[in-house]
Amino acid sequence: MRLATLLEDAGVDPRAQWILAEGADASGMSRSVPLEKAMGDALVAIYQNGEPVRPSNGYPMRLLLPGYEGNMNVKWLRRIKLTEGPTMTKDETSKYTMLQNDGKSLQFCFAQEAKSVITRPSPGLTMGAPGLYEINGSLPGRVMDGIAKVEVSADGGASWASAALQEPVLPMAVTRFRSPWRWDGGPATLQSRATDDSGYVQPTRSKLIADRGARATYHFNGIASWAVAQSGEGKTCLRITRLLAACLVLLAGYGTALAESPNLGKTASPEEIASWDISIGPGGAGLPSGSGTPQQGEQVYLAKCLACHGEKRVGQAERPTGRWPRIRFGPGQAPVKTVGSFWPYATTLFDYVRRAMPLNESKSSAMRRYMRWVAYILLLNGIIGESDKIDAHTLPAVRMPNRDGFVRFFPREMILNRAPDVRSRNELCGKVCFWRILCKSLFGVANENS
Ligand code: HEC
Repeated sequence: MRLATLLEDAGVDPRAQWILAEGADASGMSRSVPLEKAMGDALVAIYQNGEPVRPSNGYPMRLLLPGYEGNMNVKWLRRIKLTEGPTMTKDETSKYTMLQNDGKSLQFCFAQEAKSVITRPSPGLTMGAPGLYEINGSLPGRVMDGIAKVEVSADGGASWASAALQEPVLPMAVTRFRSPWRWDGGPATLQSRATDDSGYVQPTRSKLIADRGARATYHFNGIASWAVAQSGEGKTCLRITRLLAACLVLLAGYGTALAESPNLGKTASPEEIASWDISIGPGGAGLPSGSGTPQQGEQVYLAKCLACHGEKRVGQAERPTGRWPRIRFGPGQAPVKTVGSFWPYATTLFDYVRRAMPLNESKSSAMRRYMRWVAYILLLNGIIGESDKIDAHTLPAVRMPNRDGFVRFFPREMILNRAPDVRSRNELCGKVCFWRILCKSLFGVANENS
C-alpha cells in the first residue's frame, strides 16, 4: 500500500516536512524520511512475492522506499510520526553518516549510488573444469542516477567488457546482468562496475577510501573482487562490506479522515498516540518531567551499564579491555563515532538510551533513571559538570562538540528520486489546510528544529 494513502487518510499537518519511521525491534531502529519521499513512491509492504513479509524481513509490515539504501526500509514498522525536522536518531547521526577525510560527515545520504556485485561465481562456489562460464550479478535497483552500463573484468580491472542487462530493466527494480567468460583454469580476479547516467563510475575500494576516508563503510559501494584460485574455488579477494505489530501505523495528523478517503483503521486518540510516542527530537518535545544529575546516574550506571560498556570516571579504574561499544570520548583518543566526539544532539542520547538500553532489558526502566544515565554519560564525555542538572529544558540546550560536523546531502536526491506521480506540496497543503480549518483539532506534529 502506498504510504501516501495512509497519510492522506489521516491528514497531514502542513508544518510537517519529514516523517520518522520507527521499528519495533529491541533497539527501535528509526529513520527520518523527507515527506516528499513518503508522499511519493514510498510503500508499506505487507506481502512480498505473494506471501506475508517474512519475520526476518520485517513481519508484519515494513517500510519500502524505492531507490533508497536498504537500511532506510525500516522493518517491523510500528509507527510513523510526522515531524517538522529530522528526529536525529542514533542511526541517522552516527551509524549511517559518512565521515569524510576532512572530519565532516555527510548526513541523509539516502539514495543508492552506482553499485553492482557479481553473485556467480562468488565465494562458496567450487568451479568445475576450465571452459565457458556465465558471470552474472545484480544491481540494487534504481541508483541515484539511472544505470547506463555494467562492465565485468576477469583480470582485476586491467580490462573490461560490457555485460548484458537482463530485461526488463525497470526503474527501482533489482536488475541482473550477465557476461560470458572463458576460464582457462588459472587464477583470476572477477569484478563488476556500474556506470550511471551522469557518468559516475562505481569506484574501486581504494578510490572510495581516498575520496571519503576509511570510515564511510556504512555506505560502501566500491567494487567487490572475487579471486578464483587455481583449484577453481571462488575466494574473497578484497574485503567487501555488506550493507547489510499487528503494528499500528500511528499517524500524527488531525484524527479525522478525509471524507473521500478510504477511511482506513480508526482514529487514534491523543492518549493512544502518546503511549506509542517514544521519540525525542532535537527540540526536546516529549521529554519527561524530572531531572537527573551525574552523581545520581553513577550508581545506576554501575549497576546496569558497566558490565557491557565498562566506562568509569577518570581517576577510577579504566574501562576493561574488550568491552564494546565505547560511549566515552576522552582527550587524546582518536575520534570515534560515539557520543562525545560525534553525536550532534544530546537529545539523541535520551532517545536512544530509553528505546534501546540496557541492551538486554530495553524499555524496562523507570523514566527518572534515563535522565540520570544521560547525565552520567554527558559527564563521562566532559560535556557537563558533576553537579549540572539534566532535565527537559537543559538537555536540548546542551551544545554537543560535533554539532557543526555534518553536511546534509538529501536535497539533490530528493529532486532525482521524486516519483512522477508525486503531487506538489501546495496541492497537498490545500487539501489538508481545508481540514485544518474544519477540524480545529491540531495535534501530533512535534515542534522540532531542523
Ligand atoms: C548487555 C550489554 C549492554 C548493556 C547492559 C548496556 N549496553 Fe549500551 N550498548 C550495547 C551495545 C551492543 C551497543 C551497540 C548497539 C548498536 O550499535 O546497535 C550499545 C550502545 C549504547 C550507546 C550508543 C553508543 C554509540 O556510540 O553508538 C549508548 C549511549 C549506550 N549503549 C548506553 C547504555 C546505558 C546508559 C546502559 C545502562 C542503562 C547500557 N548502555 C547498557 C550493549 C549494552
